[in-house]
Amino acid sequence: FLKDHLTVVVIGASGDLAKKKTYPSLFALWKSHFLPEKIKIVGYARSKMSDADLRDRLRPFLVGAKSVHGRTDSQVEDFLEHCVYRSGGYEEAEAWKGVNEDLNEIEANSGMLECNRLFYFAVPPNVFAPAASAIKDNCWNLEGGREGWKRVIMEKPFGTDLSSFESLSQHLSSVFQEEEMYRIDHYLGKEMVANLLYVRFANIMFEPLWNRHYIKSVTITFKEDIGTYGRGGYFDKVGIVRDVMQNHLLQVMSIVAMEAPVRLAGERFDEFIRDEKVKVLECVDAIRPEEVVLGQYTASRDGSEPGYLEDEGVPKDSNCPTFATLVMWIRNQRWEGVPFILKAGKALNERKAEVRIQFHAAAAGEFLFPSAGELVRNELVFRMQPNEAIYMKANMKQPGLGDKITVSELDMTYRNAFPDDFDKLPDAYTRLILEVLRGKHAAFVREDELRVSWKIFTPLLEKLESQKPTSYVFGTRGPKESDELISKLGFRYHGGF
Ligand code: BG6
Repeated sequence: FLKDHLTVVVIGASGDLAKKKTYPSLFALWKSHFLPEKIKIVGYARSKMSDADLRDRLRPFLVGAKSVHGRTDSQVEDFLEHCVYRSGGYEEAEAWKGVNEDLNEIEANSGMLECNRLFYFAVPPNVFAPAASAIKDNCWNLEGGREGWKRVIMEKPFGTDLSSFESLSQHLSSVFQEEEMYRIDHYLGKEMVANLLYVRFANIMFEPLWNRHYIKSVTITFKEDIGTYGRGGYFDKVGIVRDVMQNHLLQVMSIVAMEAPVRLAGERFDEFIRDEKVKVLECVDAIRPEEVVLGQYTASRDGSEPGYLEDEGVPKDSNCPTFATLVMWIRNQRWEGVPFILKAGKALNERKAEVRIQFHAAAAGEFLFPSAGELVRNELVFRMQPNEAIYMKANMKQPGLGDKITVSELDMTYRNAFPDDFDKLPDAYTRLILEVLRGKHAAFVREDELRVSWKIFTPLLEKLESQKPTSYVFGTRGPKESDELISKLGFRYHGGF
């Protein structure tokens, strides 16, 4: 694709996602020469503005883009030269016809025959379907004998339950081919999530232990130390389960739990990976309401941080959960009896996302080291953010003349292991956009993955709708009922979680 002409149409160019993620990621790729030289980025939205206005709006987000390593102001200006703007309604056929004329002209001027078009949907979900039809009807056929691929990037929410997902999906698949669609779950673009496949399958030492005989529990945690801040009006219709569990945490879980794909490279490897993810999700039992804890945050102890109900746009009697812990049981040979605990919350004591695999207790512990008390269980931890790391908790002899046992960590913190790369780790969106340009689907969510994930969550969401969440104070670990549930499931707390 580097030798072809590329036009990227950013639909919703004036919105938050476009400014904070889409454009900075395109800039990062352009700066590292991962985009063709012949490229135009056409921003599209309803607001009326000129090319110069768009550039003025984008500039601060590019200059300040921490994820674009070593950027300079002149690079920002050079990149902005490729960015133009056109306004129109998302469903307006005439406006899209106009965009198509622009695209044809841009492509004709490039003098190239191979011209690719990428449509990035950075718009609210209610316009996905109508905008998709309008684009397909008006922007899909290239002129002048030119040829190239057309691809579409979309991002959650894909519905709010199984039936709304089905109707959206039916519409989208009547418009686009599955291979034209790239559904982003940005957790799949995170370095550590990509690395999970490598660690699991490129080493001999983990796979033999990766099952119910050795693993006691798997916990996948998402914690944020900020509240919903002015986004409460949106969040209230969604809640934490739909916001991060049905997508990000479930995606991570499917990679931790799936069987080895037929191949991890080469022909059809994308489908092999996604097939295994779907298979393992198909084995998930219905979530038991008694194994769910919901929470909603109240103001911080010192009053400096407001409670959820004080956020603008949140109804005063809202039952929307900002915290949830729930348990999934995967009914297959590998995982029978191992709880997969998903925990997610806003306004907690720290920002952290990790996968924590806790092993069974070492059988010899008690009689070989009688005075040691309970030995810690081995734990393998993948910290997705911040400060990416893989580490393993292990029992060791306390150095010196004594015979005490201590816990230590076999540590592979990225900052130490890869000091040259650590500061340059790409943003998730940068990695994912590049995968789209390369035509690789493995890191995107297939339609059947979404269907099964909604099948898992919809019955639970219906049951929980009217349930009152337990209050927890902003800046704490969340409701104590969550810790109680997790320890009831056999998880032993040894710190760090
Ligand atoms: C988004 C959610 O999908 O992911 C947000 O809608 C959440 O509520 C965000 O804050 C977290 O992403 P990250 O990459 O900061 O962990």
